[in-house]
Amino acid sequence: MPRLTSSPPHIRFFFPFFSYIPCVVFLCFLSHAAESQIQDQELQVLLKLRQSWQEPSSLDHWVASNSSSHCAWPEIKCQEGSITELNLTNLSINYSTPPFICDLKNLTKLDLSYNNITGEFPTVLYNCSKLVYLDLSKNHFEGPIPSDINRMANLQVLILADNSFSFDVPASVARLQRLRILHLYMSEYNGTYPEEIFGLSALEELRLEYNKFVPSQLPQNFTVLKKLRFFSMAQTNLYGGIPETVSDMEALEHLDLGKNPLTGEIPASIFALRSLSELYVYETNVSGSIPQAVSAVNLSVIDLSLNNLMGNIPEVFGQLKNLYSLNLEFNQLSGGIPEVIASLPALSDIKLSNNNISGTIPPDFGKFSPLRRFEVAFNNLTGAFPEHLCHGGTLFGLAAMDNNLSGELPKSLGNCSTLSHVLLHNNGFTGNVPGGLWMLRNLTALLLSGNGLTGELPRELSPNLTRIEMSNNKFFGKIPSTVSSWRNLVVFDASNNLLSGTVPAELTVLPSLTTLLFGQNKLSGNLPTDIISWKSLTTLNLSHNKISGPIPSKIGLLPVLTQLDLSDNQLSGLIPPEFGQLNLNRLNLSSNRLRGEIPSLYDNTAYDTSFLNNPGLCASNSFMRINVCTTQSRRSSKINLTLIVILAIAAAMCVLLVVLFMIRASRKNRSRFDSTPKLTPFQSLNFTESNILSELKEPNVIGSGGSGKVYRVVVNPSGDTVAVKRILNNQKLDEKLEKQFVAEVEILGNIKHRHIVKLLCCISWEKSKLLVYEYMENSSLDRWLHKKKRSSPNSGVANNMILDWPKRLQIALGVAEGLCYMHHGCSSPIIHRDVKSSNILLDSEFKAKIADFGLARMLAKPGEAVSMTSVAGSFGYLAPEYNHTKRVNEKIDVYSFGVVLLELTTGREPCEGNEDMGLAEWAWFHFNHGKPISDVIDEEIRDNSYLDQISNVFKLGIFCTARLPSTRPTIKEVVQMLLKCSDPPL
Ligand SMILES: *[C@@H]1O[C@H](CO)[C@@H](O)[C@H](O)[C@H]1NC(C)=O
Ligand SMILES: *[C@@H]1O[C@H](CO)[C@@H](O)[C@H](O)[C@H]1NC(C)=O
Repeated sequence: MPRLTSSPPHIRFFFPFFSYIPCVVFLCFLSHAAESQIQDQELQVLLKLRQSWQEPSSLDHWVASNSSSHCAWPEIKCQEGSITELNLTNLSINYSTPPFICDLKNLTKLDLSYNNITGEFPTVLYNCSKLVYLDLSKNHFEGPIPSDINRMANLQVLILADNSFSFDVPASVARLQRLRILHLYMSEYNGTYPEEIFGLSALEELRLEYNKFVPSQLPQNFTVLKKLRFFSMAQTNLYGGIPETVSDMEALEHLDLGKNPLTGEIPASIFALRSLSELYVYETNVSGSIPQAVSAVNLSVIDLSLNNLMGNIPEVFGQLKNLYSLNLEFNQLSGGIPEVIASLPALSDIKLSNNNISGTIPPDFGKFSPLRRFEVAFNNLTGAFPEHLCHGGTLFGLAAMDNNLSGELPKSLGNCSTLSHVLLHNNGFTGNVPGGLWMLRNLTALLLSGNGLTGELPRELSPNLTRIEMSNNKFFGKIPSTVSSWRNLVVFDASNNLLSGTVPAELTVLPSLTTLLFGQNKLSGNLPTDIISWKSLTTLNLSHNKISGPIPSKIGLLPVLTQLDLSDNQLSGLIPPEFGQLNLNRLNLSSNRLRGEIPSLYDNTAYDTSFLNNPGLCASNSFMRINVCTTQSRRSSKINLTLIVILAIAAAMCVLLVVLFMIRASRKNRSRFDSTPKLTPFQSLNFTESNILSELKEPNVIGSGGSGKVYRVVVNPSGDTVAVKRILNNQKLDEKLEKQFVAEVEILGNIKHRHIVKLLCCISWEKSKLLVYEYMENSSLDRWLHKKKRSSPNSGVANNMILDWPKRLQIALGVAEGLCYMHHGCSSPIIHRDVKSSNILLDSEFKAKIADFGLARMLAKPGEAVSMTSVAGSFGYLAPEYNHTKRVNEKIDVYSFGVVLLELTTGREPCEGNEDMGLAEWAWFHFNHGKPISDVIDEEIRDNSYLDQISNVFKLGIFCTARLPSTRPTIKEVVQMLLKCSDPPL
């Protein structure tokens, strides 16, 4: 802009010839002209920017003619017509920053956060010499922070958080002397950070949390950081002690050193006041201008959780009048809870769970504080529960389980309308539950198991309650018929109480119920025959009661039931044939008075303890540990008048049909061949359909499941073997199975991959369908991982053989590659929808192949959601989004595969995480509580040199089972990560 710089001499030259006022006008004119020219140039820069970012639609309004001034656009701020700020957050910008952005000479603030920009740190910004504020957070930047970043000498705010920057944080960052705010959290630094950072005296916020720095210790000296308000180094591998000098950070409000291996005691002096004459500052939101004299009294958030700290909770915490949140959970703190903490005026959240704290809970808690969360679980606390927790009217969550608390629950809890969770299980509480507690309108979870509580079940319940656990208490009385109004209940556990009366039909109305546990009570009478709406029920336990009468056939129609225990009752009659449609992984009908033959689906060792002690029951297999059915026992069980009538009618109809058929056959000879099996090959075969059909005999069965039996068939004298899945063996091929058959043939007939099982041919005729696959010598993965299944004689798995880690990793990688091919390698992506260890087959060399494509769906486009008409898949492997939407994408396979990774590493079954937590949830819980992964590794592989690899795969399993589909990796990324894990390559 040469004119601008040359204008002052002109003005001076003309000055004497003009009177004062016109001069100003002229000056203004000149400066206006200059200004509009600058504006025009800056507008051109913006338009070029938009162009170089490939015109994201979010910037459609950046058009020259569109507005009187670009300074009015929401992303822009100007001063005197010149651009000073670009706020370009969350605009779907995908491209790097072009150098000409620094033609905006007055740019002081650039915010590019929440975009999708990749590449290295944009050093082109070095030319923006006035830049004070730079925010690149929430993008995909990678590589190191450049070692000459100190060239941006004016920077006061540098926010690079939540990117993939790695390597060391260079010392040059600590040479940005003016920095007030430095956010480097949640990146992938894997080296060191410069200790000189702690010498940046202007710092107000220093956030380094969630980075894998090489282990380091906190500095001994914080004297320079007089202005630091926010300091977080959570999960940054800090070890050693917390130095007393932390209190030198006089302005500190927020201190987070959680999730580190810090040791030692919490130094008693650190949060003490510097001098006793200081003023208290009461505003919780104190910022900037705090008088130097006031020190640690500003602290409002302290998080030292998940460390290895020992010793007592210091009394001086009681002086932190602004303390709002105190989190010390998961340490080894001992001693009592100081009384002074109970009277802190600002205290809202206190978390002391999982320590060794003893003594009583100070009774004044809540009296003076607006408490929201009060958590003291898993300690050794004794005595009564404090009365006034809800005094402030804000109490939201209460967790005191697993202590030795006693006495009655305070009545005041029954009036605490803000309460959402009450977790008081495993203590010694006695007496009645305060009446109002059941009805609190915000209450969602009430956990009271393992106390000495008594009283009857409430007639009505808060509409928001989804989980009630009250097992192992002394509750008595009937299940009220008003139970039908407990609409939103998901889990109801009242095992081991003194409940009596019948199971009312009204209980079967509850549509969201997944878990119903009433074992070990005194329930009697018949079960309701009409089960109205247990659509979501997966677990039903009514064992150890006095229930009599028949098992309702409707139980066999529950769509997602996987665990059923009705043992130790007085149930009689036959096992309803509808049970043949269930897909159970746990069944116990022992110790009843059932009779007749058990459904053939259960006639195998997986269920050999399911029917014990029912003298009238028989099985066709002798290993079932019950009577073997003789023709006599069969006949005797069928001597029944109605049956005879039905049989007579059926026989008559048969005769009629045969006659009709013969008439038809004589008329048209060919019709007999309509039911001849038809073979459709998918590759050249060395057998015919008759080789197969002749071998479909019981001794060749190697498995049975929801959709039919699987046979092992030797097809020719040279010993070639195939596996044959018979989709159906009863009369009618139902629509669902027909669809699964078609899906399997369509998909497997068309795709070929070394990690997807080969479909050789299919054979179909009117009443039955056979799918013929390559035979996999080593059976399915679940039989290797889960001991219970392994003991079954047909499993093909020797008892003493161990699946070692290299094999497991090879299997994981193989399955991931197979899925990757399905998701990304086919012309239209395929979602499997039923990835689980029993659908992963192993050949003679333990090469994994994905099987069972009965539920698979093709997607039109990658990433596109597909609408599922019904929830399918297997319990324990189902992604959580199935609960609230039927529109799912391939991330559901990633979730299920994550569960398989957890099975491979822990050896646990997918539903076996904990009583009612799935494996995924359990693993997440374990990991997030900082417990060592080595504790949960499958014992069979624990003792070896692969612990790092195993932990990484375990973590990958957690990553894959993230609740939000969008935060799960793609299967492509999973393959990459597994390859990295298996370094050196397999
Ligand atoms: C920067 O802004 C000032 C006004 O704040 C203006 O006078 C100057 O011309 C601008 N510089 C550039 C290079 O745009
Ligand atoms: C740190 O991460 C980078 C990028 O992922 C990698 O290239 C480098 O080897 C890693 N350094 C160390 C010491 O692990």
